[in-house]
Amino acid sequence: DDYNPPPTDIITLTRHVLGEGFSRAQSNGSSGDLTILLSSLQTTCKFIESMVRKASLINLIGLAGEQNVQGEDQKKLDVLSNEIMINALRASGKTAVLVSEENDDAIFVEGSGKYCVVFDPLDGSSNIDAGVNIGTIFGIYLVEEGSKGTLQDVLRPGTDMVAAGYCMYGSSANMVLTTGNGVNGYTLDNAIGEFILTHPNITLPPRGKIYSINEGNSAYYHEPVLKYLDSIKYPKGEGKKPYSARYIGSMVADVHRTLLYGGIFGYPEDSKSKSGKLRLLYEAFPMAMLTEQAGGVATTGRGRILEVQPKSIHERCPVFLGSKDDVNDLLSFYK
Ligand code: AHG
Ligand code: MN
Ligand code: MN
Ligand code: MN
Repeated sequence: DDYNPPPTDIITLTRHVLGEGFSRAQSNGSSGDLTILLSSLQTTCKFIESMVRKASLINLIGLAGEQNVQGEDQKKLDVLSNEIMINALRASGKTAVLVSEENDDAIFVEGSGKYCVVFDPLDGSSNIDAGVNIGTIFGIYLVEEGSKGTLQDVLRPGTDMVAAGYCMYGSSANMVLTTGNGVNGYTLDNAIGEFILTHPNITLPPRGKIYSINEGNSAYYHEPVLKYLDSIKYPKGEGKKPYSARYIGSMVADVHRTLLYGGIFGYPEDSKSKSGKLRLLYEAFPMAMLTEQAGGVATTGRGRILEVQPKSIHERCPVFLGSKDDVNDLLSFYK
């Protein structure tokens, strides 16, 4: 019969995180502050999603007319989502330090907040005007013991992050989140304004069939990357098929597909970009934490991304992440 009742046990993000938090509270008496912080992040993503959806209608596409510390021309949505995020995180009362791609310096928040949030308020800005998927990426540290929130609290390896996630604004709004116990995906139900658990326990297959890299940079690539790409495009061995190429140009979208389908995503260092293009704190670290929590590998080519010790808040690092067998194949060319 085609009677298909609606789910009657709706697991919202808040309930799900509370559930996890509750079990953690049983163990280490957490105060629910992370849940409140994640709730303010949810609200921010819902608001950005609503702006992204109607950007073309309310003249929110195109350039803001300013440059950011990265030397990029800021889009209007970059600036707006950044301001919304800073205000919401400050208002949550739970933050001590904020680092944004769009702000030259770290922001120190007055009060007794104990979380540091590093974020890319709008990732994939070059895709805004074409209506292609973009997103928000964030990573969360707890301030160090006894600290009120200083720069040192955010110049720490990604292994110190207590949570990481992104929200992708595409055909639907998808929040993907880890608080250190695996990765879960939630889809925004606009009718009720809640993120509903739709992808519990996201796990990467050990190997995929897709590679995702901007081959327009091939002229600048170093030998190991060229040799690896050659090995998957012209595979040797009986019956071996070439990998398929998929590159969206928004890290959130390319990583989301990689987490769900498997394969490998990369933005390597090359002779043009000495440390690659992606920023360590608020792009590489959160995506590396998610990838590892989903059973994958995330490497700079020389070592585990999460173990890199940041020296400055906007530094860049080479990124290869995805299915463990695929990334290990790549690493074999670095040996
Ligand atoms: P952002 O829009 O936040 O500046 O990030 C853009 C990044 C990332 O989203 C994507 O993977 C990469 O830039 C694409 O770079 P190329 O266009 O050079 O491939
Ligand atoms: Mn940018
Ligand atoms: Mn980005
Ligand atoms: Mn950005």
